[in-house]
Amino acid sequence: MLCDSQPVSAPPELPPLVSAALSLSGRRGFVSSTRNETGRLLATLAASRTGLLGELGTGCGVGSAWLRSGAGDNTRIVTAESDPQLAKVVAELFADDERIEVVSADWTALIERGPFALLFVDAREAKLSARDIIADVIEPGGFVVLDDFTPSAVWPPMYQGRVDTLRQEWLMDTRFTTVEVMVAPDAAVLLATRR
Ligand SMILES: C[S@@+](CC[C@H](N)C(=O)[O-])C[C@H]1O[C@@H](n2cnc3c(N)ncnc32)[C@H](O)[C@@H]1O
Repeated sequence: MLCDSQPVSAPPELPPLVSAALSLSGRRGFVSSTRNETGRLLATLAASRTGLLGELGTGCGVGSAWLRSGAGDNTRIVTAESDPQLAKVVAELFADDERIEVVSADWTALIERGPFALLFVDAREAKLSARDIIADVIEPGGFVVLDDFTPSAVWPPMYQGRVDTLRQEWLMDTRFTTVEVMVAPDAAVLLATRR
């Protein structure tokens, strides 16, 4: 904080589509939606992109809504969700927005849609095992975002007393330049740029 600035009482308001997706999460008791700090990073990154933005694991649409809130005119968003009921209600939520497409399918169905200018990897299986596949479908200079890490100040990164090999492998993969960004005191995101 600058010395002469005043503390603010509330963060910036949420974009309406994000609020709608969060309401859907609340109604469905869905507890895995992207937190706002990560969402604001997604929106900021989306604002720097043109072309196709993707999300693996739609949930209740919060991540897509954040991407949409930052995305400029020359972008489209495609998101895949393996739970058909969830995919259906989120497709209804975004029905009036022709720039967001919800695909009711496993995340692998999105791969052939590439290359992506940004890919938010938020389905567990994709996070754990899809780095090689993802590397092939990100355009040079494109971003990959993985969230829900606990900040680690040591190397190699540790989680619950063990080396966090997922994070370590992303940070060391020479196809990407990757940084761990703390978006909140208790939350970190990996941001990887395809070389
Ligand atoms: C962490 S939540 C996603 C949250 C969402 N991205 C957001 O921003 O709020 C993970 C979602 O991935 C979905 N999922 C799990 N395995 C999947 C798979 N193999 N393919 C596509 N979606 C999957 C789950 O059903 C769940 O809705």
